[in-house]
Amino acid sequence: MDQTGTVDNLLTEERVFRPLPQMVRQANLSPQKCEAARKLAADDPLSFWEEAAEELYWFKRWDQVLDDSNPPHYRWFPGAQCNIVYNALDRHIETAAKNRLALIWEGEPGDSRKYTYYELYRAVNRLASALRGLGLSKGEKVVLYLPNLPETVIAMLASAKIGAPHCLVFAGFSAKALRERIRSTGASTVITADGFYRNGRVIALKNVVDEALSGEDSPWVRRVIVVHRANVQANMVEGRDFWYEDLVRHERPQAQTEAMDANDPLFILHTSGATGKPKGVVHSHGGYMVGVNRTFSWVFDIKATDIFWCTADLGWVTGHTGAVYGPLMAGTTTLIYEGHPLYPQADRFWNIVSKYGVTILYTSPTVIRMLKRFGSQYPRRHDLATLRLLGSVGEPISPETWMWFHKHIGRSECPVLDTWWQTETGMFMISPLPVSLLKPGSVGKALPGVEVDVVDREGNPTPAGKGGYLVVTKPWPGMMSALHNDREGYFQDYWKLIPGCYFAGDVARRDEDGYLWIQGRADDVLNIAGHRLGTAELESALVSHPAVAEAAVIGVADPIKGEVAKGFAVLNQTAAPSPALAEELRQHIRRELGPVASVREVVFRDRLPRTRSGKLLRRVLRAEETGQDISQDLGDISALEE
Ligand code: WT7
Repeated sequence: MDQTGTVDNLLTEERVFRPLPQMVRQANLSPQKCEAARKLAADDPLSFWEEAAEELYWFKRWDQVLDDSNPPHYRWFPGAQCNIVYNALDRHIETAAKNRLALIWEGEPGDSRKYTYYELYRAVNRLASALRGLGLSKGEKVVLYLPNLPETVIAMLASAKIGAPHCLVFAGFSAKALRERIRSTGASTVITADGFYRNGRVIALKNVVDEALSGEDSPWVRRVIVVHRANVQANMVEGRDFWYEDLVRHERPQAQTEAMDANDPLFILHTSGATGKPKGVVHSHGGYMVGVNRTFSWVFDIKATDIFWCTADLGWVTGHTGAVYGPLMAGTTTLIYEGHPLYPQADRFWNIVSKYGVTILYTSPTVIRMLKRFGSQYPRRHDLATLRLLGSVGEPISPETWMWFHKHIGRSECPVLDTWWQTETGMFMISPLPVSLLKPGSVGKALPGVEVDVVDREGNPTPAGKGGYLVVTKPWPGMMSALHNDREGYFQDYWKLIPGCYFAGDVARRDEDGYLWIQGRADDVLNIAGHRLGTAELESALVSHPAVAEAAVIGVADPIKGEVAKGFAVLNQTAAPSPALAEELRQHIRRELGPVASVREVVFRDRLPRTRSGKLLRRVLRAEETGQDISQDLGDISALEE
């Protein structure tokens, strides 16, 4: 939860912002069209989504819009054949979009590369041909362990083009986390880089891949492709490792786009849940493409002149939908940046906005809080007049952070579109539109075609103003098609708690006007700088240290990251508590999971609070931390801990 605004603050927030007349005049989706869409979507959601599907190109039309004969295993557009890459790239080559910029990339040292749609198309075709040449075929999984580089976008599209599902692993994850993900997907191929630039340093990557692939129970990978980025010495294994450049140099810039069944997997992306193991969320070509195309183009109101910048790392779903598939299907220009927001100074983002004339900036509350801390003199040094829309995602944004973003970055003119969605939902679910009335700190209402509710434990809607579980009550096309190799987990984690509804894991409330306010996670998942990490995952990293017998991890408030982890360790008899050991344990978690696991401190305990059946009571530790009195609800162990 954003610490600059408390829950009380959210409750009393009364500021509203009406859309400016020019915004309403220019919007692709006028208030009237928006109302009509809401009405159609409410009366006949399947026709609404069918209409959305008709905006895209299909090799073969669907037999049915939605097969809901076996809930919760819904299948969208069964019988259809398509490929998202045809819609993100191939079809633009036949239109005026051909010579428009598709991708702008800025490296941290200040280098930059640009691709028109035609150039990107050719680069993707070259890599697709090379992958086929190496024997990669439809259905084989490709793990991408890459930072924000043009080649990352190219590798995503080339894999999808030949029907090989991609699985990006965020470059801030450790060798162990990478190995686990390669193994669980059964990938035959890994694409990585020698290294990259981050905060003025070179971070080596290829050696992490080598580590992940070495040792006894190492996963079986036949090919490793290495992008040359940062002049890091790489140890190339003969017959297994190839330089990207060498592979594509002589390839033909034409490659056929594989016709996929609408329900064939497009990508797998891991996310954290309440258990220690990351979950492989699967998205398929057909439904994802329809859901993302419609919601992205409506929320961000795309025009031919836009330069769209999503600041997320491509390794998260925000990067997949918000930096690659959403903008490219819309035919707009997407900008990606390799480096750190504060490098070399706190105005790097504002410098990028003015240098390229960014018109839409999509970022996270963590980043806004970080930049806000340096004050408005940094944005003031730059011309931000090209900006017309701002977006926020990943965690609740406090009204104060919203106001700063709106005033100092958006000149008090640009609407701030706070989009709520998840790795699992694939597409935006709840968000204002540019013509909506905005309340700072609220995500607005569900988008047309999306039905959500706030309910109690029994599934009854809670009255206005009262918190409850956020659920989705009808299937939507962007929804995950499965959890990789875990049919039971898919049901248990998302569909069991509130029968008939998708349980998002968030707590929310609805106000008198029907506006939604997200309060945070309901389960044992932390939101560290907009990234989900399970407490159980952090705990298993902590107990893997030889000195630790038992461990607990909770989230504690952090002014910039929103939340960071705090560990509690019960030591083995042979180990003695010391500040040095506490620091060693903190570093151990980082080594186990990678720098993404921000642990503020580890403290020692003689024992941990547990239920009679032995379940860890993290809420007791949390209450101690915040000084809250929970004596009265100690008997009531949360539904999810039972
Ligand atoms: C969780 C999903 C796809 C978004 C990036 C994170 C939180 C996401 C918002 C928002 C408040 C938000 C929720 C959600 N979240 N967007 N606008 N306001 N909270 O994707 O890693 O799958 O995490 O992020 O808690 O469940 P993710």
